[in-house]
Amino acid sequence: MNRKYRKTIIAGNWKMNMLASQVKPFAEELKTLNPRAKWCETVFCVPYVMIPAALKAFKDSRVAIGAENLNENPKGAFTGEVSAAMLADLGVKYVIIGHSERRQYYGETDISVNKKVHAALEAGLNPIVCVGESLEQREMDITLELITLQVKAALAGVPAEKMRRIVIAYEPIWAIGTGKTATAEQANEVCCAIRTVIRKLYGARIARATTIQYGGSMNEKNARELLAQPDIDGGLIGGASLVPEKFSAIIDAANQE
Ligand code: 13P
Repeated sequence: MNRKYRKTIIAGNWKMNMLASQVKPFAEELKTLNPRAKWCETVFCVPYVMIPAALKAFKDSRVAIGAENLNENPKGAFTGEVSAAMLADLGVKYVIIGHSERRQYYGETDISVNKKVHAALEAGLNPIVCVGESLEQREMDITLELITLQVKAALAGVPAEKMRRIVIAYEPIWAIGTGKTATAEQANEVCCAIRTVIRKLYGARIARATTIQYGGSMNEKNARELLAQPDIDGGLIGGASLVPEKFSAIIDAANQE
């Protein structure tokens, strides 16, 4: 973390878990555990159908709500899809784009990720752009090249003045939901490489101000060490974001002195 230059953001990604009826009790419990947010910004990215319940449940707290996906088109005949404008209209602030589960199961590519980034920015949403390598790619020693490509593709055509709204989440695929976390050094190495890409594209000032999260089995036990790394500015958390005590402990780790 580096609070002097950029925001620390702790974001939960509920994925296809929880029910709308569980949101209020969850929020009440979290608010009791974490009455004050201190420095870090807290976000819950939730399934579309839970967005109204989440906005209501966290209305009087400093927790922002995000979506887990969006359609790249502004509007029209796309049955079953949800646009950036629809999300912004509800009061959603963030949207996860290009999560590895969407790339893997729903055919999302670097090109569609880039289109979604533009759609989100156009509607005033803050994209959380996910990048990450598979175990095979790590073993082939192509991680940094691959991540560089993913970041460059995601940001293609994004003007410098919109970069302050972009968050990048480094999520090694082999660490998601597996209980296998990247070591703090491994995670920091890639987050640092991402910052270097941004520096080359946009200059030192913007690179220094960009929030880069780590995601992949982050939990209440390893969060402190991961967040103590200079280039890790927060977390994108799956499993541990479903349990108020665990998520609250991660927020505490982000608020460490
Ligand atoms: P886990 O924290 O369950 O590994 O999930 C990480 C993730 O995919 C967040 O987007």
